[in-house]
Amino acid sequence: MSSRNLGRTLFGSPANAGNLLSLEEAHTLLNEWVPNERLRLHMRQVAANMKAWAIEKERADEQTARKWELAGLLHDADWEKYPDDHCRIIVEELEKRNIDPDVIRCIASHGPRVFGVEPEIKMDKMIYALDELSGLIHAYSLMRPEGYAGMEVKGVKKRLKEKTFAAGVNREDITDALSRIDTSLDDLIQFIIDNQSSVS
Ligand SMILES: [Fe+2]
Repeated sequence: MSSRNLGRTLFGSPANAGNLLSLEEAHTLLNEWVPNERLRLHMRQVAANMKAWAIEKERADEQTARKWELAGLLHDADWEKYPDDHCRIIVEELEKRNIDPDVIRCIASHGPRVFGVEPEIKMDKMIYALDELSGLIHAYSLMRPEGYAGMEVKGVKKRLKEKTFAAGVNREDITDALSRIDTSLDDLIQFIIDNQSSVS
């Protein structure tokens, strides 16, 4: 069992449904907890992808889209300061703040093999599917002189096959996550390119 295994599958309280941090509060938390701008950018990118997916693909209402966005924005908030307790710290912080249980469980399920929490609803499955791929695509943009401009799916897939490129990106997680949703790798890559390229 991983030391980061959360050892539980229930998060937050149903009584807190609908209780969300404002985006301003979430950014304040990130600025306090995450000195590394690149990691903050990663979370903003995952948040943009999550929000766009909720609206475009799930036809989510504003409140639901905000939940998706918030989970993306905070999912790695404790990674930099508490690497050994990553996920547990932010989950407990959001429970302390009485945040909506969907947001907390979504964050807890963004790495099932590490945190021991299976993604349940679509929101959980999408953060799992978007997280690593978003990181790889951003790493690819940084090595291209033109950044995101003209980036093609086939270029991303080539990097994905190169195990030494962005070696920290777990390819097995990407395959596992894709097996849980009905979207192809090509479509997901294109969606991420379209939705995170303008995030700054
Ligand atoms: Fe992440």
